[in-house]
Amino acid sequence: MHILAIESSCDETAAAILSAKGSAKPKILSNIISSQIDIHSQYGGVIPEVAAREHVLNIIPVVAEALNKAKIKPNQLTAIAVTKGPGLITSLISGMETARTLAYAWNKPLIGLNHIEGHIYAAFLELKKDLKFPAVVLTVSGGHTLIAVMKAHGNLKIIGETRDDAAGEAYDKGAKMLGLGYPGGPAIAKLAANYRAKFSEKPKETLDFPRPMMNSGDFDFSFSGLKTSLLYKLKADTKWKNKIEQYCYEYQEAILDLLVEKSLKAAKKYQAESIIASGGVSANSRLREKLIERTSIVLPKTQVHFPEMSYTTDNAAMIASAAFFHLSRKAKIKPWQKEKVELNLSL
Ligand code: KG4
Ligand code: ZN
Repeated sequence: MHILAIESSCDETAAAILSAKGSAKPKILSNIISSQIDIHSQYGGVIPEVAAREHVLNIIPVVAEALNKAKIKPNQLTAIAVTKGPGLITSLISGMETARTLAYAWNKPLIGLNHIEGHIYAAFLELKKDLKFPAVVLTVSGGHTLIAVMKAHGNLKIIGETRDDAAGEAYDKGAKMLGLGYPGGPAIAKLAANYRAKFSEKPKETLDFPRPMMNSGDFDFSFSGLKTSLLYKLKADTKWKNKIEQYCYEYQEAILDLLVEKSLKAAKKYQAESIIASGGVSANSRLREKLIERTSIVLPKTQVHFPEMSYTTDNAAMIASAAFFHLSRKAKIKPWQKEKVELNLSL
């Protein structure tokens, strides 16, 4: 089986080829990403109109490169997979129309996939151990923050979401206030790590950032209060620039405490055998360290899984992985005419 996957939901134009033979684990033969970060960083965030124009320019070269690198010809493809939502409508359309046109021209089945499901299935690529169900899934990106329970492939239920900003947005907007540019996650993470490295033990937090909804009794998140608290602390502290590493460290600890502790509460309630963290924020090494450490204390039998680093932020390999599991379950694949761009979050 060979799958061509296309992803264009935000500011990365991406295409990948997945190959699977018999019962062997699927392999990614190519994973091409044309990133627009340098363009959008000038504006401090993604400008949808600019993203849409870049997708139009990049999508065919990216698909061609994915096929060439994988040494796969169109007639060898089993299906074409594409992100159908959620995302920026003007960005999604490029991927959808390209996939639909190629499926028509090459007479291939088309399968439309949910972007979040893609992030989750990124963790199933190159798994070191077989993943045991039920799993609690934390998906944290620039656009989404949710906790879901996965009882089996195709059986996924969202149990908590953010009520305002996504975790990645809390990083991006926090970084903007701190003058660190876009994307904010890696910038805050770097300064936070510099600060942590200065201490032999975990440094004492003195800035007193809140952990909103930590004990709300559900699995929802809220980051807007934390963000506002950063704004007011910076306004009140004329010397904050001298303490920027400490601000990054403590602000990040607050975000990550919420993500880790809510995931653990969900894992406890649903007796999870595994916890998966995925999405752009799962590239964060402090999140990985904290989640592994706290799980080993609170739920020592539960395994923790993360996608490989290159599959954490938006990419098409994750969409190919989700398509592979759909096809393996013999889920009905639709003809090219039927796929519609979807903007809602339902999986
Ligand atoms: O999954 P993704 O590429 O796009 C969406 O689907 O939104 O995630 C991008 C988000 C951005 O908010 C970015 O700041 C964040 O992921 N991010 C990180 C790190 N790398 C990317 N956040 C924290 N630490 C990182 N190392
Ligand atoms: Zn994403």
